[in-house]
Parts: sequence; structure tokens; C-alpha cells
Amino acid sequence: MAKIAEQERVAGPVRILGIESSCDETAAAVLVDGRVHSNVVAGQDVHRAWGGVVPELASRAHQEHIVPVVDTALREAGMRPSDLTAVAFTQGPGLIGALHVGAAFAKSYALALGLPLVAVDHMRAHVLAHFIRDDQERPVPAFPFLNLTVSGGHTLIVHVRSALDMEAIGSTLDDAAGEAFDKGAKLLGLPYPGGPQVDALAAQGDARRFRLPRPSVPGLDMSFSGLKSAFRNLVLPLRGADGAVPAELLPHLCATLQGAILDQLFTKLTLAVERTGITRIGIAGGVSANRGLRQRLAAEADARGWNVHIPPLAYCTDNAAMVAMAGDLLLRAGHIAGPDTAPRARIPQA
Ligand code: KG4
Ligand code: ZN
Repeated sequence: MAKIAEQERVAGPVRILGIESSCDETAAAVLVDGRVHSNVVAGQDVHRAWGGVVPELASRAHQEHIVPVVDTALREAGMRPSDLTAVAFTQGPGLIGALHVGAAFAKSYALALGLPLVAVDHMRAHVLAHFIRDDQERPVPAFPFLNLTVSGGHTLIVHVRSALDMEAIGSTLDDAAGEAFDKGAKLLGLPYPGGPQVDALAAQGDARRFRLPRPSVPGLDMSFSGLKSAFRNLVLPLRGADGAVPAELLPHLCATLQGAILDQLFTKLTLAVERTGITRIGIAGGVSANRGLRQRLAAEADARGWNVHIPPLAYCTDNAAMVAMAGDLLLRAGHIAGPDTAPRARIPQA
């Protein structure tokens, strides 16, 4: 099925359906030659009560959402399934049960329609979000560039030599930056996912009211688990008899936590620039939605002469437009998935 379809299809416009189901977002998007025609994301409120993503519940919610989400993406793009020329899906990394739902759907859909299937690495797709085009003109980063990919599961500094040639030159040794935000928020009694809440509160707080240590990890690697413990030690004595942190302290605690997370990210990013001599910087992943991070990046860019690329928010958090974009680039390079392709919970990034 695959090879014949490859030769037939890549000649004309690539009308690709992207499917994303690696964590707690069921998403589908249609891109035509890299331009977004629809980008649909269904979140999963079911995890809120548990203060974090429950893998089994995520798989069930993906199963409920996947068909309606794909239908909506096609309708919004004004297309029928027979108009598509390829299907791309997130192969991993992610929650294995969640990935299986997207993979099984994408494989069946491609098979039924006789379309080539493209397996996409979610972390690479986050980087390739820079190349998505829509009705707002944005310059795309020239190669090579460095990408800070910061999400709930990963924290990577990626050396991007070309769309298909990238290597993580730094990564977290333990928790991801997004986890540090989410776990810190949970300690403060804020609802899941905590990153956006910490972001909003931090904007009204003073990061110097409290102190957190800065870890010393050699080279370009990072660590956030010590920060999590230090934050717990800071927060627990501040809790009142009712177990809650006084509301007036929340902005300062959030600003302190966010400051410590961003300090580490920027220390390592600056070191990566020094080591590689590359001053073109992209950011991607859910944490790149953080306003403090964006402001600091803009300030550092001005101060250091970096050329910075920040995708729109809709392409930073988990979405299927980035999966379709990666699928488009892979398809053109002949990377077609075979019928035995299976999801992978872990995919090494180095
Ligand atoms: O990339 P993403 O949507 O999903 C994963 O692949 O993990 O990233 C989700 C992570 C969560 O940890 C969430 O709290 C964090 O991104 N996040 C933020 C913000 N928005 C989302 N962290 C800090 N500030 C934000 N504004
Ligand atoms: Zn992600």
C-alpha cells in the first residue's frame, strides 16, 4: 500500500490529516502544503479532579473524542476524506494507551482510504511547528537553529540542522519544566494543569520575596526535581490550619517558582548559544506559552542579539497542526510508515 501511494501522491498538493493523542488532548488538523485549513483540539476535563493526567481515563476520552474531532477537522477544512492525500499520527513519545487510540485510528483510516501513513515523533513535531503557515505571515527560522522544547514531559535544547536532522544537545535529568510548574501548582492548591495558573499569578508577584536554590548540573543538561523538593519545603510551613496557603502569598510563591524554572532554562540556553555559536532560537511546547518565558526571551534577544522565533500559542501547546506539518515534511522525504508501525511510549531524542 505505502510505496505505491507515495509515488502517486507526493507529486500534487499534500492534503494531510494530522492526528495527535499522546497525552490529554485529542487533536486533528488538516494542512495543505503546510498551510492550516483546520486545527481542532478537544481537551479532557476528566483529569482535573485527580490533579494530573490519569492514563486510563485519557485513553477512554481519546476513544470518545477521536471520530468527532476528525470529522470536525475535515468539515472545517471543507474536505471529504477522499480529498486527503496522506494521514500523519503521533507515534510517541507519550502515554502508551493514549497513543494506541490515535495510532489505531490513523492506521485504519489510511488503510480504508488507500493513503500513505506517516508516523511522527511528537517532540520533533513541536519543533516543526515553526514551519506551519496560516493567514498571519511569520518568518520561519533558517537552519541551523536551537530550539528550547519545554512541555509537560520533556525539556530539551535541540540543535536543528534541518527539518529532519535534529539532535537534543541538552535535556532534563529528571522532571520536565512543565512538571515543575504543575507539581508546584498542586502544592499551592491550584487546579491542574498548574502551568497557566502559576503564569497568571506570577505576573502579580515579587520573585524576591522567597528564595529557591539554583541547581548546578554540568553542561547543557538540567534538573527540576531538587527544585520541586525545595519548593515543598518552602510551602509546607506557610500553610494555615485549614491546610491552605494564604492567598496573599500565592503570587509571590508563583513568581519565585517561575523565576527559578526560567533561570535554569535561560542559563542553559545561553550556554548552548555560546557552545554552538548559533544565535537563532526557537521555542516550542506547552511551557513556551508562559508569558514570563516569552518576555524574558524577548529581553535576552534584545540584549544578546538573538534572532527569536515564537510560534502562536495554538501551535505551542499540544495540537495536530504540528503533527500534520511534520508528516508533510517526512512524506516529501519518503518516510512512509509500514503496516506494522506501532506506537512507542519512549523515543530517545539525543
Ligand atoms: O506540550 P504540552 O501541551 O503537552 C505535553 O506534551 O506535555 O505541555 C503541557 C505543559 C503542562 O505542564 C502545562 O502546565 C504547561 O505545559 N503549560 C504552561 C503554560 N501553559 C501550559 N507552563 C507554564 N506557563 C504556561 N502559561
Ligand atoms: Zn507536547
